[in-house]
Amino acid sequence: MNRLDGKVALISGAARGIGGETAQLMAQAGAKVVVGDVLDDRGRQTVAAITAGGAQAEYIHLDVTREDSWVAAVDLALSRFGKLDILVNNAGVFIGKGIEEISLEEWNKLVAVNMTGVFLGTRMAAPALREAAKSSEHGSAIVNLASIAGIVGSQLDPLYSMTKGGVTLFTKSTALEFGRKGYRIRVNSIHPGVIQTDMGEQTFVARAQRSGTNDTAQIRQTVTETVPWGRLGVAMDIAKGIVFLASDDASYMNGAGLVVDGGATAM
Ligand SMILES: NC(=O)c1ccc[n+]([C@@H]2O[C@H](COP(=O)([O-])OP(=O)(O)OC[C@H]3O[C@@H](n4cnc5c(N)ncnc54)[C@H](O)[C@@H]3O)[C@@H](O)[C@H]2O)c1
Repeated sequence: MNRLDGKVALISGAARGIGGETAQLMAQAGAKVVVGDVLDDRGRQTVAAITAGGAQAEYIHLDVTREDSWVAAVDLALSRFGKLDILVNNAGVFIGKGIEEISLEEWNKLVAVNMTGVFLGTRMAAPALREAAKSSEHGSAIVNLASIAGIVGSQLDPLYSMTKGGVTLFTKSTALEFGRKGYRIRVNSIHPGVIQTDMGEQTFVARAQRSGTNDTAQIRQTVTETVPWGRLGVAMDIAKGIVFLASDDASYMNGAGLVVDGGATAM
């Protein structure tokens, strides 16, 4: 189950957090991985950890908001590994401000990374994914990082929620368009709950500020108590879901959303 032997994956925002864990898990599952991020040192460390384990990976500076950056990342996958089977649109940012507090500049940054980045990645990788699908029994795959904030509203960051809601429906629409065109690229989204990464920490800081306290440990405890499974998520919880969606075991999943939140949105 969940093997990716012989497959080539490109993951955005893969220097750390969920993307970094996914890069390592995909490599362990047999994939060759291109790690793209704007955090060059951290990205190279992630690649070094993968290659130290005997798998193949390459780092490239990828700013998801830039078309030329995506062209270079896809080119690297093709020139170094010969094809591209999997795209994970993982890069994302969180601002943690309300509608009346966020600046237009901050909103534009949210849209550029969380939405334009997903659109550009999908468009620029589609020809290579389509080509690889021709010689693959179950086709190619795109996995988009949405959020539970893309399914239900977020009082903490309504604008972040708006971008993730966009990713949720863009996923379904892309599955429909690529299906109509006969591309054989499955497109699915994953919807993490609160995950303990740098971004997860940012959400605790934002909640603390909202509550007028510096006690993020108390906030973390309060949030944990809202999760029916009784703990916060870790990057590996999400990486496992991403690997599944990218693998041939998910060969009939298309235009779907996989919720991985310990039951947080079950109520
Ligand atoms: N952590 C959570 O609680 C949580 C919950 C739901 C969804 N998500 C989503 O999961 C994804 C990964 O988040 P994470 O928790 O690992 O956060 P993180 O902040 O640890 O990692 C995000 C990565 O994206 C990179 N990035 C930011 N802007 C970029 C750009 N312009 N181009 C390329 N890379 C860029 C960052 O450098 C970083 O490495 C995001 O899309 C996020 O919205 C996270």
